[in-house]
Formats: sequence, C-alpha cells, structure tokens
Amino acid sequence: MLARVIDERGVVVALEGPLGAGKTVFVKGLAAGLEIDPSSVSSPTFVIASEYEGRGPDGSPRRLIHADLYRVGSAAELEGAGYLDWIVPGHVVAVEWAERALRWLPRDHLRVSLETLGRDRRRLHVQATGPRSVQLATKWVEAGGFAVQLA
Ligand SMILES: Nc1ncnc2c1ncn2[C@@H]1O[C@H](COP(=O)(O)OP(=O)(O)OP(=O)(O)O)[C@@H](O)[C@H]1O
Ligand SMILES: [Mg+2]
Repeated sequence: MLARVIDERGVVVALEGPLGAGKTVFVKGLAAGLEIDPSSVSSPTFVIASEYEGRGPDGSPRRLIHADLYRVGSAAELEGAGYLDWIVPGHVVAVEWAERALRWLPRDHLRVSLETLGRDRRRLHVQATGPRSVQLATKWVEAGGFAVQLA
C-alpha cells in the first residue's frame, strides 16, 4: 500500500486517466492508508482541493491534499486557489487531472495512469520522475504493490 511507505517528506502523486478511470477511488485508498475515513473523500466539485489530517505508519501526522483540476480554467485560477502552497515537502498531494497543469508539478513526482480494463478491473502505470519518487515506487512494490479497496 502506497500510503504506508510515504515518510515525513511527503510526495506528489499525479493521477491520470479518463473520466471514471478510478482516480478518486485511488485517493480513497491513499486516505485509508493514512488513517483517514475514505468515505470523507470525494471529488471536490466547487473547490480545487480538500485537505485531510492523517497519520503515517509511525503515528506522525500526515496532511493529505486531494486536488481535482478538471474544472480549472486558467493558471490564474489555480494560483488564486492556493494550489501552489499545497505543493510543499511533507504534504501528500494527490492530483486528479494533473496533466492539465503539468508545469506546476514538482519535477520529482509519482505519475500514476489508470486504464479501465473492465467494469471492475484497472491497470496502473506508475512512472517515477526523480530519485525521491524512484525510492518510493521501489518501496511500494517491495511492500506488496497495489491494494485499492472500494469503499
Ligand atoms: N480499482 C477499482 N476497482 C474496481 N472498480 C473501480 C476501481 N476504481 C474505480 N472503480 C469504479 O469506477 C468508478 C469511477 O471511479 P472514480 O470516481 O474514482 O473515477 P475518476 O477517475 O475519479 O473519475 P473523474 O475523472 O470523473 O473524477 C467508481 O465508482 C468505481 O465503481
Ligand atoms: Mg474523480
């Protein structure tokens, strides 16, 4: 489970995939792993991002930011919403439709693309884009890889 291998430095996870691919479900799994009630996670409709207080495996606090850029129209809107303030070390930032604002992503992030194979089957492509995300992806695989449970 990804959430259990993220340390206090946090990570930015860029989620890509078409409507209904399972990006929000993935974030629910991330939340559950951070001891946040997954049912409290839904795609923010009127806000760009929601914040949750969770815990890491060692009991230390972890802040989860769930952003959805689907409706974002401009860079100014993104900046106005404080999006850039969330992308700081220590935060676990999960971004749906991150491809709409690639230039705002830190260079080193985890890119997860979801592909629908059937009604209840998904394929995940995980790309690490720097040393930190390579380290995380490696630990993630060592820890048993992907376990996303539907709420
Ligand atoms: N890993 C999974 N296993 C089985 N079913 C899934 C999985 N992920 C998502 N689904 C199904 O797909 C539906 C849509 O998922 P979800 O809302 O997470 O998509 P999304 O990528 O966030 O879409 P949007 O682009 O609209 O935000 C869910 O209601 C669920 O039924
Ligand atoms: Mg969604």
